[in-house]
Parts: sequence; C-alpha cells; structure tokens
Amino acid sequence: METQESIRQMVKEKYTEIAKQSSLRKRSCCGTGQNVVIMTEDYSDIANIVEGETVLDLGCGAGNDVFVARSLVGEKGKVIGVDMTEEMIARAEANKKKLGLANVEFRLGEIEALPVESQTVDVVVSNCVLNLVPDKEKAFSEIFRVLKPGGRFAISDIVTTGNLPKNVRTAAELYAGCIAGAMPKEQYMDLITKAGFDASVKKERIIGLPDEALDLYLSKEEIVRFRESKSEVLSISAGGKRP
Ligand SMILES: C[S@@+](CC[C@H](N)C(=O)[O-])C[C@H]1O[C@@H](n2cnc3c(N)ncnc32)[C@H](O)[C@@H]1O
Repeated sequence: METQESIRQMVKEKYTEIAKQSSLRKRSCCGTGQNVVIMTEDYSDIANIVEGETVLDLGCGAGNDVFVARSLVGEKGKVIGVDMTEEMIARAEANKKKLGLANVEFRLGEIEALPVESQTVDVVVSNCVLNLVPDKEKAFSEIFRVLKPGGRFAISDIVTTGNLPKNVRTAAELYAGCIAGAMPKEQYMDLITKAGFDASVKKERIIGLPDEALDLYLSKEEIVRFRESKSEVLSISAGGKRP
C-alpha cells in the first residue's frame, strides 16, 4: 500500500534521476511527460515581487525561479529555495555559484516541515510542485506559518475537475507529467482556505488529453465515458494573502 512516506520516496527518486540529467528543461523540470511545455501557468504577475522582499520558493529544483525572484528583490532582498532532493539542491548550489549571488540560499527539506522560521517571509512562490506533495493540508499550513501577517503566495499547479479514473490519471501522467497526485480544484482551494488564507484561482487552463494519449490505457468505451464525465486536468495559478 502507498503511504505518504512511500509516495515522497518515489517522487524523490524521480527527481534525483532528473537532476542527474545533463540539461534540465529551462522553464520547469516537470518530469518525463512528453508535453511538459503545456504545463503550468505563469504566476510571476500574481506574485508581484518587489525590491527588498524575502521570497521563498517551494520545490525549487535547480533554482530557476529563485534566480528570477532574486532579480526582482535585488541586493536588499533575500530568496530561499527549499527542495527535498539532494541532487536538485546540489544543482541549484552549482548554478548559484556560477551566477555569484550572495543573498540566495538553498535549503534541503520537505514542504510539509519547512526549514524556515515562522513569520519571516513576504512571498511564497511554487511552480508545478504541490501536486506531488502527499500531505497538502500540512503544506498549506506550513506556508501560512512561514508568511508574515499580510504576506502572500502565488502558486502554479495541476488540479482536476471531478475525480479522474485511475487509468485516465496514468495516461495523463505519461502525456504531460505532474498529474498523478493532482486533486480536485474545489478540494485544493478548500485546503488553502482552511489553512487561514484569503485566496482565489487567478488563472486557469484546461490541459486537453488527446485520444491518442488515452488510447494507451483506455478502451474506446472508456474514452467515451471519460469525455461524457466532463472531468478535466487543469493548470491553475492561485494567489492569496495571510490576513
Ligand atoms: C516538477 S519539479 C519543479 C521544480 C521547479 N519549481 C521548476 O519549476 O523548475 C518538482 C520539484 O519539487 C521537489 N519536491 C517534490 N515534493 C517535495 C516535497 N514534499 N518537499 C520538498 N520538495 C519537493 C522535487 O524534488 C522537484 O525538485
């Protein structure tokens, strides 16, 4: 049986392999899906990062978004990237060294137990990560804990409408990646509200799954039933504020 720990271990193994590849995709390391380019929405205009702020990037991978945030916070700000995969942190550290940046820090740790002091962060960002986290309730309560009162978050992620049948999930994972742990949008937003945030979905896009992708795992009848169910995979950007 899959436990939260075994899921975390599987995710870690997958991203250890990806980190060992010589070149990571520029925008995202969403994994082995053939169509990763179609993945998450851009959240930069939702984050509205300004000079001097402290930004935390959850599941920072090799650090792409950390370096973008660093260019916005400038010399007086600070950016922290957290990732649980040692190899990703090593790549991020190597990239930091190449760029010669001082006020950027990478920390090894889990989003469900952030290695960050309470109420020290202005903005939390995260791209294509929370769908991979088995305990999303804990993740959102950790985001709330580390944010200063009035602090905000901007997250891009994958969610679903309705409950995707297991074979559709498998086909979608192969097609686009980052879908296996995605939960229904309402449930996802409820968890964010329950953590104490005033939050909403700012952008949303359907990731269309073509018949050729579903064909691999579903019979013709199952594809018809899936189409009729109106269940979808969605890429969303959500933003919110800690009161
Ligand atoms: C799809 S990649 C996204 C990386 C980066 N945000 C980007 O857009 O390029 C997911 C990253 O999240 C990390 N990750 C997944 N689950 C995590 C967790 N529970 N705690 C910390 N990091 C996690 C993985 O190690 C991996 O580096």
